[in-house]
Amino acid sequence: MALGRRTAVTSRARRAPQTVAGEAQEGTRNWRTLREGGSIHRVQQQQRGWSRRGMMVNSLSLCYHNKLILAPMVRVGTLPMRLLALDYGADIVYCEELIDLKMLQCKRVVNEVLSTVDFVAPDDRVVFRTCQRERSKVVFQMGTSDAEQALAVARLVENDVAGIDINMGCPKEYSTKGGMGAALLSDPDKIEKILSTLVKGTSRPVTCKIRILPSLEDTLNLVKRIERTGIAAIAVHGRKREERPQHPVSCETIKAIAETLSIPVIANGGSHDHIQNYLDIEDFRQATAASSVMVARAAMWNPSIFLREGLRPLEEVTQKYIRYAVQYDNHYTNTKHCLCQMLREQLESPQGKLLHAAQSSREICEAFGLGAFYEETTRELDSRRAEVLARTPAELEEPAEDTSGVIKMAVKFDRRAYSPQITPKMCLLEWCRREKLAQPVYETVQRPLDRLFRSVVTVAEHKYQSTLWDKSKKLAEQAAAIVCLRSQGLPEGRLSEESLSLHKRKREAPDQDPGGPRAQEPAVPGELCKKPFVTLGSGDESPLEGW
Ligand SMILES: Cc1cc2nc3c(=O)[nH]c(=O)nc-3n(C[C@H](O)[C@H](O)[C@H](O)COP(=O)(O)O)c2cc1C
Repeated sequence: MALGRRTAVTSRARRAPQTVAGEAQEGTRNWRTLREGGSIHRVQQQQRGWSRRGMMVNSLSLCYHNKLILAPMVRVGTLPMRLLALDYGADIVYCEELIDLKMLQCKRVVNEVLSTVDFVAPDDRVVFRTCQRERSKVVFQMGTSDAEQALAVARLVENDVAGIDINMGCPKEYSTKGGMGAALLSDPDKIEKILSTLVKGTSRPVTCKIRILPSLEDTLNLVKRIERTGIAAIAVHGRKREERPQHPVSCETIKAIAETLSIPVIANGGSHDHIQNYLDIEDFRQATAASSVMVARAAMWNPSIFLREGLRPLEEVTQKYIRYAVQYDNHYTNTKHCLCQMLREQLESPQGKLLHAAQSSREICEAFGLGAFYEETTRELDSRRAEVLARTPAELEEPAEDTSGVIKMAVKFDRRAYSPQITPKMCLLEWCRREKLAQPVYETVQRPLDRLFRSVVTVAEHKYQSTLWDKSKKLAEQAAAIVCLRSQGLPEGRLSEESLSLHKRKREAPDQDPGGPRAQEPAVPGELCKKPFVTLGSGDESPLEGW
């Protein structure tokens, strides 16, 4: 019965104008047979030539037939989870939804330390990280409401991913109020524009993920219109926009869609009620007559749901997950979030409590008995980092971007040179209060390559920054405060300040301190004369007197 249905779907797929050769071939194979073959569809052939639309194509053909798919999940579908899902047998993995405007601010950076490709935001945060291992299996899911922006993002990422998907199902306000996600479902013209622009303009297969509409008729009309745009497949979450996970998923509606369309339909929404183990995935596929199945929550709880042999114990799964997280330098808050989703009711256990309290990747590792692994891996990464730094010093210098107006000096905050009670930040804050200025505002970025920090402090609408990078945010902020204070000739709380000023007074020679840090840390030429606010301390009286 199931095989009969597969054959019917497949023969339609063969007629489909969008079907690429690889899809038609694979479509003839039975689901279980494919699974028996182990990790299926390893062979992805590079295609080069002219498409029917007269465009030059140079793409890896991603086949959406008979596939087990990790669903897109915000904060869950990051690189460690995707790699783990692939290890356990997922054929395709979607990244978390990433918003077009955010992506358009990103630069593509090849990270030689981690062997990844990173898309890095102006604040140096990694928005999307991917690697060769998932290159032919990762689908980039985008939140968008604009065809041109969507195309620009697709072009930015297309050489690093296997497919492009548009999220048309997210009911959350942050998505819908910008006309994205499920809001698109009530604007079929826009859907058509976005999808056809992408299909024409990118070399990767384009898909979309929808929810169902209140009536079956409207749903079928919509999906037929979507199919005509030339997309490669459609994922259908069988719930309406206002429905929540506790509402039953409509297998009948997904089935009606699968029986109407020629392109592969990917059934979604079965976690918990239908899918609790590997075999349930196939039952859900049969119940929906779909070509493939996409799993979200069941995979978030335990990504070994994709394993034919059955679920692996959480202990093993969490260990593997953490190893990937450390190897790929995943931010600890994201690692912690994903582990919390896996542990669920075990969060009250001693290990769960340790996880809850963890404030770094090291502490997470220690909670799971992976302290030695953490040390070893970070040592390895550090030495790779040192190698890369030694090789490419020029690239790590100041970015060539225009930072005009920022007053810069090469300074570092050396804690030992300051009284523990008085730091440069405190001096600056106190000074701003006295001058009735708004309090200093610090903005800090972290450089992905070596994870060092740099801060800019804004005081009286002027910005101050050290050109040197620091090991922590706190140190970077202190360095920025020093730049501000020094450029204004203000005391900064150095232990030597009092004796220095006495010394200076005696000699009446203000620049005679060759051994002092200021002599080694010149300001960027010309910057010292930029004094946006009146310099105090022209006399010998400290503005901090009274502390
Ligand atoms: C934590 C979480 C995050 C999600 N993020 C996304 C997302 O980024 N994009 C998307 O299309 N759907 C997202 N979804 C919806 C899922 O992809 C899926 O449609 C839904 O959970 C139903 O599938 P399931 O029954 O297998 O969980 C998310 C769901 C969860 C639980």
